[in-house]
Amino acid sequence: MCGIVGYIGGKDAYPILIKGLRRLEYRGYDSAGIALVDDGIHIQKVKGKVNDLENRFVSHSKKGTIGMGHTRWATHGEPNENNAHPHVSFRGHFTLVHNGIIENYSSIKKHLLSRDVKFSGETDSEVLVNLIEHLYLEVDVSAEQAVQMACHKVEGAYGIVVACKAEPDKLIAARKGSPLVIGVGEGEYFLASDATPLIEYTSNVIYLNDDDLAIIKKDELILKSLRNPIQKPEIQELDLSIGEIDKEGYAHFMLKEIFEQPRSIQDTFRGRVLSDYKGIQLGGLLEVLPKLYQAKRIIITACGTSWHAGLVGEYYFEEFSRIPVEVEYSSEFRYRNPIIGPEDIVIAISQSGETADTLAAIKLAKEKGATVLGICNVVGSSIPRETDAGVYTHAGPEIGVASTKAFTAQVTVLFMMAISVGRHNGSLSQEKFENLIQELVTIPSKMEETLTNEKEIIKLAEIIKDSPNALYLGRGVFFPVALEGALKLKEISYIHAEGYPAAEMKHGPIALVDENMPVIVVATKDQTTDKVISNIQEIKARKGKVIAIVTEGDEEIIKIADYTIAVKESSHEFAVLLSVVPLQLLAYHVAVMRGCDVDQPRNLAKSVTVE
Ligand code: G6P
Repeated sequence: MCGIVGYIGGKDAYPILIKGLRRLEYRGYDSAGIALVDDGIHIQKVKGKVNDLENRFVSHSKKGTIGMGHTRWATHGEPNENNAHPHVSFRGHFTLVHNGIIENYSSIKKHLLSRDVKFSGETDSEVLVNLIEHLYLEVDVSAEQAVQMACHKVEGAYGIVVACKAEPDKLIAARKGSPLVIGVGEGEYFLASDATPLIEYTSNVIYLNDDDLAIIKKDELILKSLRNPIQKPEIQELDLSIGEIDKEGYAHFMLKEIFEQPRSIQDTFRGRVLSDYKGIQLGGLLEVLPKLYQAKRIIITACGTSWHAGLVGEYYFEEFSRIPVEVEYSSEFRYRNPIIGPEDIVIAISQSGETADTLAAIKLAKEKGATVLGICNVVGSSIPRETDAGVYTHAGPEIGVASTKAFTAQVTVLFMMAISVGRHNGSLSQEKFENLIQELVTIPSKMEETLTNEKEIIKLAEIIKDSPNALYLGRGVFFPVALEGALKLKEISYIHAEGYPAAEMKHGPIALVDENMPVIVVATKDQTTDKVISNIQEIKARKGKVIAIVTEGDEEIIKIADYTIAVKESSHEFAVLLSVVPLQLLAYHVAVMRGCDVDQPRNLAKSVTVE
């Protein structure tokens, strides 16, 4: 995680760096810092957020047309000023910002300590900047060569920007495993962990690949691979607008992103659902379609909210294409010896496209010969580049740390994939296939109506805001919705919440139910609604407070539940998309009432690029 920015050109670097850090704060926000190159290298860092950094800077010089900045999510060493970036090497020759983890830092540190290098903090990044300096002085090479040599010596992941005091006209950037994008301007270059800080300055970008090394002067960019000579940079055009990364009047990004969902899922299926509603075309999968249509087994791998989308995907693939599916946490999958081979399809789901565990799971699956597909949101990120083929979710930038619109977009992609495969392998009739497509296009307007329930949801938030615990229940395809509702609540409001299959409740969680326990039941209609009604009765019998998400007009549940939120009638496959929205809003309002930092919840980060 961590966000890094850099600038070199003719303008004042400070405002560009500060603004860039704000855009990247979703990646980590426990400490921040900036280095400006002027008549020397001037550094300011703070424990805290970019705002704190800005306040600190007021009384200091903001001069310099070259600089770098960092917003941190601690891995090695607690969040404090010493451990904040930029780091300066012991003898003062180099300054560095780093995103990633240097896994062999401890042996390198030992070696450097034996050479009288002193460290002021505990980070692996400080070890890296000192290794660069050590090589620079000991082997007597240029700054660029020292960075190159250091990169060969370290194991792990890095995206770095480095400045050298003796060569103040350049920045050196390198990448392995952690993302880095260069924005190309007129007589200026920008650097950032993702493209969002760049869009107000340029739409021409270069995504660095693993093992790339860039030597950047204000009017010259030399791109090399760590092993090979100079390469021609591939400049790509950004397809992002400023509006997409602003709050646009909403109090928080999360709220904006919740309300964007009718449009974002439309963007997900737009151009893919054929205009006569008789077919679906997923361009990114064209090359692998024959393999996908013949798949005997699918393994879905992901983390967090994306894993919940994967569980919905399991249901869709089994229901519509009759292919057995396994859903794996990437972090577990990568450390087992999973039985997969060339016949298997592995689908990796990731909003950011950068999650380290998911990337590692992909590498493992590829080594074992599987065909690996990606479902990602961030265009040009690492996962789409590592996979054999894939589908972008096109949900637009998601900035709130708690994922919302990415989930509904992922579910929409999985749905389109599952019904396409089902149609082609004969599990789904053309008639049913077309009916499902026709219903899919009605979902955005039904979701729009669900969003009009916000006032009622605020009242429910009042009811649960002081509870220490909450239980979320759902059956079948609504079980992952319950998991997702519970995750939203716990990550942004810090209320302990658990998602459980409704019928499993009696094997444990029912012991927790009393008059103080809010139980949120995803009870939208499907073939198990009667059973869910029995589960609600079981909770009521123990005086639990039942908040049910129901299908509009479902009088039976409305009568027995203490509180209900209705969503529009739909087939149960689509009720996933509708019923998750009130749960997102509920978590949001509870968090606001509890005074929590909704967009930047404690200890979390949006893009987890460490294991
Ligand atoms: C972090 C985020 C979650 C996200 C998970 C997986 O924990 O806070 O919102 O679901 O990572 O991220 P990915 O980008 O792979 O979907």
